[in-house]
Amino acid sequence: MPFPEALAHASEYAQGQILFHLSGLDSPIADAMRYAVDGGKGLRAFLSIESARLFGFDRYDAAPAAGAIEALHAYSLIHDDMPCMDDDDLRRGKPTVHKKWNESTAVLAGDALQALAFQLVFHVQASAENRLILSQQLAVAAGIRGMVGGQEMDILAETAETPLSLDQITQLQAGKTGALLKWSCKVGPTMAGDAGHQLDIYGDCLGLAFQIWDDVLDVEGDAAEMGKAVGKDAGRGKATFVSHLGLDGAKRRASELVTQACDALSVYGDNGDCLREAARFVISRRS
Ligand code: IPE
Ligand code: IPE
Ligand code: MG
Ligand code: MG
Ligand code: MG
Repeated sequence: MPFPEALAHASEYAQGQILFHLSGLDSPIADAMRYAVDGGKGLRAFLSIESARLFGFDRYDAAPAAGAIEALHAYSLIHDDMPCMDDDDLRRGKPTVHKKWNESTAVLAGDALQALAFQLVFHVQASAENRLILSQQLAVAAGIRGMVGGQEMDILAETAETPLSLDQITQLQAGKTGALLKWSCKVGPTMAGDAGHQLDIYGDCLGLAFQIWDDVLDVEGDAAEMGKAVGKDAGRGKATFVSHLGLDGAKRRASELVTQACDALSVYGDNGDCLREAARFVISRRS
């Protein structure tokens, strides 16, 4: 299946999983959860399902993992947009959750999406042991050694007296964005009980390239196309590859990372083509 179609399908599967587990619930928090998972690109869902395909699983086996990571990602975005973090009013072309409802709804919808993510992992069609490993790895990726740790560095950098070094920015981005993307890339090997070292390299490079491109789009993207505000990072003192290397330098680095990501897939031959396309998409996307 060509990449754009696979991406759209994966996004639908992830949404289906999440909506199923919210069915029958009628409350502002449940509404905010449904609202927050709608409208994303679904890249993390795609990576989960595609890595599972590479290891012989079908999309139904891996769909709960796709739902889990999109729920966790949606939670991270709700909190990222709040006034105490990036203070954004627009996400995926719609008002952010705290704008549409209020801050307590945003906090609680985020909390509940995080919990739902772990609930979903237990529906992945793999052995009980491999489901446990998926869950443990998701906890690490989401927490202080992963997404939250990266978000902490991101917020602290805004008021730091000395700018972060390139190594520190790399660490920040590997945490805030890379950890969840890498978890998605490891769904297939983890379901199969395989170490999946090649996908570690692919996931690390893809995660970093993805965030570098997010930072590039903050400078030269179109707000309407992206469905979120642009031109905010510099004003807020965010530490990014663009702030450090300039636009051209950041783009060059992202492109090198994508080449490295694609090279890591050589053991999979043609079977890795869809993941290669995904890597190229990461640094050509306009949103
Ligand atoms: C946005 O992620 C937040 C970052 C980690 C940079 P995406 O660009 O994947 O957001 P959606 O899910 O498509 O809206
Ligand atoms: C968000 O990074 C990362 C997480 C939500 C964990 P950004 O703050 O750069 O993402 P956008 O630009 O708001 O989508
Ligand atoms: Mg942020
Ligand atoms: Mg933000
Ligand atoms: Mg950004």
